Amino acid sequence: MWNADVPDYPAGHDPSYQAIPFFIALHEGRSYGLFFNNTWRSWFDMGKTVPRRYSFGASGGELDYYVFTGGAERSPARVLQDYTALTGRGALPPLWALGYHQSRWSYMSQEQVLDVAQEFRKRRIPADALYLDIDHMDGFRVFTWNAGTFPDPKKMLDQLHGQGFRAVTIVDPGIKRDEGFPIYRSGRAGGHYVRKADGAELHEKVWPGVCAFPDFTSPGARAWFGSLYQAPLELGVDGFWNDMNEPGVFPPDGFSQPEIGLGPQRTFPLDARHAGDGRPGTHEEYHNVYGMQMARASFEGLRSLRPEKRPMVLTRAGFAGVQRYAAVWTGDNSPTWSHLALTIPMLTNLSVSGVPFVGADVGGFMGSPSAELHTRWLQAAALTPYFRTHSNDVSAPREPWAFGPAYEAINRDTIALRYQLLPYLYTLFEASERTGLPPMRPLWFDYPGDTRASLIDDQYLVGGDLLVAPVVHEGRTSREVVFPKGSAWIDWSTGIRHEGGTSAMVAAPLARLPLFVRAGASLPMVAAPVQHSGEMKDQPLTLLVAAGGTGSSRVFQDAGDGYAYREGKARTITATQDGHSLRLDIPPRRGYQRLGAIEFIGLAAAPAAVRIGGRTVHDARFDPATRRLRIVLADENLKEVVLVP
Ligand code: NOJ
Repeated sequence: MWNADVPDYPAGHDPSYQAIPFFIALHEGRSYGLFFNNTWRSWFDMGKTVPRRYSFGASGGELDYYVFTGGAERSPARVLQDYTALTGRGALPPLWALGYHQSRWSYMSQEQVLDVAQEFRKRRIPADALYLDIDHMDGFRVFTWNAGTFPDPKKMLDQLHGQGFRAVTIVDPGIKRDEGFPIYRSGRAGGHYVRKADGAELHEKVWPGVCAFPDFTSPGARAWFGSLYQAPLELGVDGFWNDMNEPGVFPPDGFSQPEIGLGPQRTFPLDARHAGDGRPGTHEEYHNVYGMQMARASFEGLRSLRPEKRPMVLTRAGFAGVQRYAAVWTGDNSPTWSHLALTIPMLTNLSVSGVPFVGADVGGFMGSPSAELHTRWLQAAALTPYFRTHSNDVSAPREPWAFGPAYEAINRDTIALRYQLLPYLYTLFEASERTGLPPMRPLWFDYPGDTRASLIDDQYLVGGDLLVAPVVHEGRTSREVVFPKGSAWIDWSTGIRHEGGTSAMVAAPLARLPLFVRAGASLPMVAAPVQHSGEMKDQPLTLLVAAGGTGSSRVFQDAGDGYAYREGKARTITATQDGHSLRLDIPPRRGYQRLGAIEFIGLAAAPAAVRIGGRTVHDARFDPATRRLRIVLADENLKEVVLVP
């Protein structure tokens, strides 16, 4: 456990960008969890040295650990609820942060950014955010702009906002050591930088050249760094991306070993000094929390500068509890099929480590994917919590249209699927804030008693009601899907029902993401095409009801940003399925997306009649190809829908 900058990491590479010394054990359907509350370099030997025994330890600090017994039910969900009660839960992100995000290192100029934005709208491919990587800055100095290439950032940001886009800028921890740079001088005057063992300011090289680094373990340094967000907020920047905060630094001059081997060592000297929030210590003690404390400085700064909006912070490094401050992405992955496959276990493992808002660079960061790989990757990522395409400075263009018209059409549909299901994802995030249960889950998390499903790591669940089985191998047009025991699953595309505890080969032509809805579930969707999340509030909701099961589902609605929902300015619809009837509880409150339609999926045949409040509905339409029955509602005044077989 040692936060490390490890570009192009091979599968299983250890250590990685985040250290979360927590695991959930699962044995014969029963779970417990263990959290080692130690920030030093720690290790876990899970039966490697001595089979049948595990051990853990650290290079310093105390043997302070928590065991979560999982309550009477011994379930992974209960373990995670208890772990996140201790380490914190991720707050509900602004709705726009759950949309599709497009990035690259870098969009090099203001015109290029605006061109990309315009292209999305012209081609009617939905998107919510564009990212500005390091080249938007003046010589890589944080919180500055390159006057030549971004002469009028305010105008650019206004234009982006006018088209319904948000902008996210990168903010690195390294502050250029430059007497002419006011931010550097202000940090030095405040005594906010990390010091070497001998007391001198620590200097390491990163993008801007020689840099000093805020000591984010000091409350004063965090408050100072947090206050620097005022300038970009005033211009209109919407979200922020903390990178290189393992911290990663460049190798000394003349060093020529392969990057990976060097990763963990490329950081501050272990005897550098940190304030440690009142418990001064060395870098060896505080290395693993440096990135999380940077994200905290960003989050808390944004909270106090702009209290009416939810902060959107993305971080690369983190420690147990990072979920309180930021979304997390899995760093510099590669454009290969094996890296695509790797995203599923990486993201589900982060999720069950308490971090709900997670994603991987779509397409693989370190180069250029083939058109097929990129198309499949976009599908696999479309229902992951954080959905961003990003690539490095030498990658070929990777906007959804970059691979030609045939792929563009598929990519458009993939991103549109994300937007259709955005109300469902949003509902899951609201629940996650209260319960700690992540939107993205490995199968074992919800089905710990199903030994076969427990071992699957090329499928994932989104909440309890969606099962996603992406194609992660080249050239495949079908794949095997394992359906967890205890639920039945309805194929999103065909309406065919699969019983739990079975598996099936399902068709997966390039245009199709194999996706299944749990029978008994009711999911909120927006059926009409939208260009960004801001357009959704004007669109009625469709409730997708997977027939042939029982269950109760919620739909959470609020303003999509701000904190009024915590004072009750929100509405929760509940839908309960039981046999042939669907009961609805729709609080009669104004100002929320109206429920406009109900769509049953998975019916074997059209029902003889559909009744709402005892009256027969005449404009219910059944499509035998998808086995969907769509009922358009005149108003929200309904309590029950009955399908007469
Ligand atoms: C490393 C990050 O992981 C990557 O996402 C970013 O594009 C580069 N740094 C440049 O800022």
